[in-house]
Amino acid sequence: MTEPRPSWHSNVGFLLAAVGSAVGLGNLWRFAYLASESGGAAFVLVYLVVIVLVGAPLLVAELAMGRSAREGAFRAPGRLVGRRLEWVGALFVLTGFAILSYYSVITGWTARYLVAVARGAVERDTAAQFAAAASGGAAVTWHLVAMALTVAIVAGGVRGGIERASLVLMPALFVLLIALAAWAATLPDGGAGYAFYLRPDPARIWRLDTFTSAVGQAFFSLSLGMGAMLTYASYLQKGGSLVREGFVIALADGSVAFAGGLVTFPIVYQFGLQGQVGESTVGALFIALPHAFATLGATGRIVGTAFFLALLIAALTSAISLLEVLVDAVVARTGWSRRRAVVLAGGATALAGVPAALDLRWLGAADRIAGNLLLVVGGLIIAILTGWIWTGADAELADGFPHPRVRRAWIWLLRVAIPAALALVLVGAVRDALGVIAAAIR
Ligand code: PFF
Repeated sequence: MTEPRPSWHSNVGFLLAAVGSAVGLGNLWRFAYLASESGGAAFVLVYLVVIVLVGAPLLVAELAMGRSAREGAFRAPGRLVGRRLEWVGALFVLTGFAILSYYSVITGWTARYLVAVARGAVERDTAAQFAAAASGGAAVTWHLVAMALTVAIVAGGVRGGIERASLVLMPALFVLLIALAAWAATLPDGGAGYAFYLRPDPARIWRLDTFTSAVGQAFFSLSLGMGAMLTYASYLQKGGSLVREGFVIALADGSVAFAGGLVTFPIVYQFGLQGQVGESTVGALFIALPHAFATLGATGRIVGTAFFLALLIAALTSAISLLEVLVDAVVARTGWSRRRAVVLAGGATALAGVPAALDLRWLGAADRIAGNLLLVVGGLIIAILTGWIWTGADAELADGFPHPRVRRAWIWLLRVAIPAALALVLVGAVRDALGVIAAAIR
């Protein structure tokens, strides 16, 4: 007998879980290096605009699809539009699988650093320490630890696992981040960090590459374009405004990314580490910050522990949403019990993550292809689907918009502006992915 479809216990539970999915490694690890690569404050400004004009409207569309279909990422497109779109569900699930496989590796690094920093075991040469931790046997082990934690939460179910964990972990994360930002504000030489982060260079604002990386980052950070938010919304009861929900999630995510920058940039500049952040993209956070923490002695140990604990919470609450997409798909496809599906999906992802744990280039390539290109493709599909093909969005969102004009603006954003912008971004993302593949083959 199949189990009944799960549902959230409360709306707050859903919101915290969705914010938990959005707020993750993307907000701290990816955001920090993209912002420093792409002009600091100019990037931050463009990013915030992209969140409001591209991210939030698409997020609302995904939520509407999920709640209306009452099916997760795998089944929803087919259910809403018909069999000819079943491949979209498969694409979503494949993207989630690929992202989780390397996301869990970075979550593993985070867990390992949490332990090392808490024990005061940061080495003098943090770049060498990172190189040893990032790939190889230890990285595989910690990746498996991260997957085991993720599986343990998701196995508890939507209410008893995901919702319960989010209700405890998300408030803890907010408190930790506020405390860290307050501490960073006391650094005497952090001013240059704030200036880089907060004073935009007008010339960088209008550059196409600033826009392109902002869009890619918005997708990753909002968990958009692969049906994670859709799947969470499929566990909602009718009623409640998805428009408001979508904007709350997007703003919460943007705020955490912004607050994360208020923590990382002053630290990086205080210790003159800006070169390190730009140089080793994936390693930025794991090389520069431990260096600062090690210099600070006992204070560094406390602050560093708080930082990596916050990062681990952020990573885990995102990883569980990725795994949930897979679990829901396995249940939908096989009719298995949830527990069995969790073991299968978790085990398969654990295996698939091994190459990323053994080779940083693989990890980087997977992030470019699944974490960037495929999410943008998914977003484009969602925009076109909700704007032109699936006719149920209006009914699902009825009364949700504060004004009919906002509703019209939303529809036309999805129909024209967002697809046009994404097509532009896609050209760059395809070129980028091909470059990564060519470099790997060579
Ligand atoms: N939003 C997460 C982050 O910013 O780290 C990453 C992520 C989670 C991407 C879930 C996609 C997803 F479906």
